[in-house]
Amino acid sequence: MLSRGKITIIVAVFACLLYSCEPKGDYTGVEYAPNMYHSVAYDAYSQITDSTDAYYNSTPYNQYKGKKKINMLPPVEGTVARQNFRSVADTSKDVRDKGLFFYELHKDSIDLAARILKNPIILDSAGVILEDGKKLYLTYCQPCHGEKGVGDGKVGAMYKGVPNYTTGRYKTLNEGHIFHTITNGRNRMWGLKTTISPEDRWKIVHYVQKLQKGEG
Ligand code: HEC
Repeated sequence: MLSRGKITIIVAVFACLLYSCEPKGDYTGVEYAPNMYHSVAYDAYSQITDSTDAYYNSTPYNQYKGKKKINMLPPVEGTVARQNFRSVADTSKDVRDKGLFFYELHKDSIDLAARILKNPIILDSAGVILEDGKKLYLTYCQPCHGEKGVGDGKVGAMYKGVPNYTTGRYKTLNEGHIFHTITNGRNRMWGLKTTISPEDRWKIVHYVQKLQKGEG
């Protein structure tokens, strides 16, 4: 049999254990040695806010009501959001609002692409965009399509069947059609979506449209 003294001790221990539980679901318990849980170095995405001023990893430079807050600071006033690389084509509104990325279009949907895709990059009067487009074209397309887009690139000569942008139906291929061709390829040409960013592809489209008019 347990003695009365031992029973008292057991009851006291259980009472203490029960007392240390709290009904609140978000209570993480007492942290002994918090530096084992929290990074000592500042971590931009750390969500620890300093309600007690006892934690590490909350910045003194971001304060709210005198308490340190998370390390990532809000962007400074006047910050301009960068262009949105959304992945879903929303055909309900002007596509110019919809970012640059139309990965959702299936590679067999070139007619749809020709109908709905509009170049979100507007040409500037100084010609910087076209200059970029030209550089990119000379890097990625010229080996097959030739400097002027007439299909006489050195690789094209071996590859065969490279069209001339200035003749026949190629003259009138529109921006969406060209973008889709660069992205997914077409017949014997393979797609370049993993090589060229959407933004750069749209710049190339501008330049190809110049070549179609024989203005390269
Ligand atoms: C490895 C060679 C090669 C490269 C590199 C290449 N193309 Fe092509 N391209 C072709 C060939 C071949 C065709 C003809 C495809 C066919 O119809 O068989 C073609 C066709 C096209 C067409 C016509 C599509 C149609 O509707 O018939 C366009 C527009 C085009 N390419 C644009 C580009 C652009 C822009 C680049 C650079 C980003 C590029 N190509 C890079 C070989 C290439």
